[in-house]
Parts: sequence; structure tokens; C-alpha cells
Amino acid sequence: MKNKEDFVGFESHEYRPIVRSESIKLLEKIVSEEKPKQILEIGTFIGYSASVMLSACKDSFVTTIEISKENALDAVKNLTDEGFDGRFEVVNMDTMDYLEKNSDKKFDFIFLDGAKGQYYKYLPYLKQMLKKDCFLLADDVLFYGLVRSTEKIAHKHRSLVNNLRKFLQQLESDNDFETTIFDFENGMSLSKKKI
Ligand SMILES: C[S@@+](CC[C@H](N)C(=O)[O-])C[C@H]1O[C@@H](n2cnc3c(N)ncnc32)[C@H](O)[C@@H]1O
Repeated sequence: MKNKEDFVGFESHEYRPIVRSESIKLLEKIVSEEKPKQILEIGTFIGYSASVMLSACKDSFVTTIEISKENALDAVKNLTDEGFDGRFEVVNMDTMDYLEKNSDKKFDFIFLDGAKGQYYKYLPYLKQMLKKDCFLLADDVLFYGLVRSTEKIAHKHRSLVNNLRKFLQQLESDNDFETTIFDFENGMSLSKKKI
């Protein structure tokens, strides 16, 4: 697999919201161990994490959702160049539109890495779309440590942090999920759906 620096679109973005190295290792580990056939990824960017998942399990198919047309086109090019043709679908759509229209679809693994402030709104759909005994992994849930901080949150981050708190609260209070929070990098939550 290419380095992420060599992916089409990497150089053209000043801010590159790609899953960090420890978090990528956790993603890779789960996919290689669980061998999910159907994966849903929310937030494609230029396809790096999708390519990590497709490399980690040869039997996986990734459906990945991206709102930016430019990113979606770059991701298709990158995933095709990596030799994953026929094993992925990049859907250029707002996540909520996708979830509302596809809530009857079922997935063996969901990687949530899109708009952080919307995670709590996505969760009821993701829960319904995740099969029993399968995992939901969400990135950036501790958002630079602010989500668990007792200090006053700067106005510019307040609603995002409150929305992530709502998401974690929903997950941790839901007995249908068994949730672990990983406190490295920007924080990840891993939830197994028990029913
Ligand atoms: C953190 S990046 C994804 C990084 C990617 N998972 C990786 O590690 O290679 C989040 C992506 O979600 C996209 N995004 C933001 N809001 C979205 C929405 N409402 N629906 C779909 N995609 C969205 C952004 O354009 C961005 O490319």
C-alpha cells in the first residue's frame, strides 16, 4: 500500500484530516481480526482509511460516504490505483441523507469518521444498520482532550464538544452496546452491539 503522502489529493489539502497512526493501527487490527464482509465508513476524505481496511481484509467491501465531490473523486482514483476496483463504493452524499435513504442496509463493521458534531444524530441509524455482535468504531471522540475536560470550553468548540459528549453519553448508557473509550491521539470509541 502507498504512503498516505502519495495519495492523490494529499498535497492539495493544507489541513489533512486523516486518521492518526495509533488510531489507524486499531482500525487495522479490528478489521483484520473480525474480517467484516460489508463495511460502512462515514467520512472518506481521499480514501486512506478505506484503503487500510481493504488491505486488512481481502474479503471486505467498503461503502464510504463523502460530502465533497473533489475528495470523493480523489478517493475513487486512489482506491482504484491501489487495486481495489470492485471492492468499494464511494458515495458522494451528505451522511444524513445517506442514512435516511439506506437505513434498511446491514453492515458487519462501521467506521465513523465524518462530521464530529453530527455523530449523536447518526447513532440511531448506525445502531439499526449494524449487525449483532459487530463493532462501531468512532474517531476523534475526545477531541483534543476537551470532551472529558472540566475546564470551560472556548466558544468556537463548545457546540462540537457538547455534541460529542452527547454521543458518548448515548453510547455508554445504551445497554445494547458494550463500549470502550481509547484515550490515545484524539480518542476513539469502540462499541460492540450485543443484540
Ligand atoms: C476526518 S475526514 C475522513 C478521513 C478518512 N476517514 C481517513 O482517515 O482517510 C472527514 C471527512 O468527512 C467529510 N464530511 C464532513 N461532513 C460530512 C457529511 N455531512 N457527510 C459526508 N461527509 C462529510 C469531510 O469532507 C472529510 O473528508
